[in-house]
Amino acid sequence: MGMNATKTKQNIIEERIRNVVLQFHRTLAADIEEILGQFDSYVIRDTSEGSLLIEAKNLFLYLIQRLQFHTLLEENIVFAVILKSLETGEYKNLTPMLESMELEHQEDRKIIQRIMGRLASYQKENNDLEDLIKLMHRFQIVFEEHSHFEDELVFKPYRNLCLEEPSHDEVRHRSLVKRSISG
Ligand SMILES: [Fe+2]
Ligand SMILES: [Fe+2]
Repeated sequence: MGMNATKTKQNIIEERIRNVVLQFHRTLAADIEEILGQFDSYVIRDTSEGSLLIEAKNLFLYLIQRLQFHTLLEENIVFAVILKSLETGEYKNLTPMLESMELEHQEDRKIIQRIMGRLASYQKENNDLEDLIKLMHRFQIVFEEHSHFEDELVFKPYRNLCLEEPSHDEVRHRSLVKRSISG
């Protein structure tokens, strides 16, 4: 493979990675802001409404804290590792990895938008809140699968940096527990 072909391949991969940052991370961040605003307006309006709304908001805060931590690692470490592997040839074929990454970001986005839609039509009924909490548990599962995949592939050498992240077994275990709860 000549110099030009390598350069082109690298450009394509850089472009796809940049897309994840621009298209998904930024839109996700905007959606999250919107959802936090929605939560705040309901919590202010319905202080008496009780624990389910607060529970849903707290669960969301917990999830986005983890998502933001993951995003930070992704943008600062994972993407750099992928680009570096182009030089070292560590991964023979990056396409499946990039495809999974794009698909997982699309999945994250879809479920965040469902949460946003559910909140927009929130009618103060218990059903709505139970659905909302179910959606967030779903998001937790989707997100944990997403981060598990990347942890396995690229975080391993950096595991000691992930002090605030729970161990894999812990995440896996929780994910399985959730799965068995939600049937
Ligand atoms: Fe991401
Ligand atoms: Fe990720």
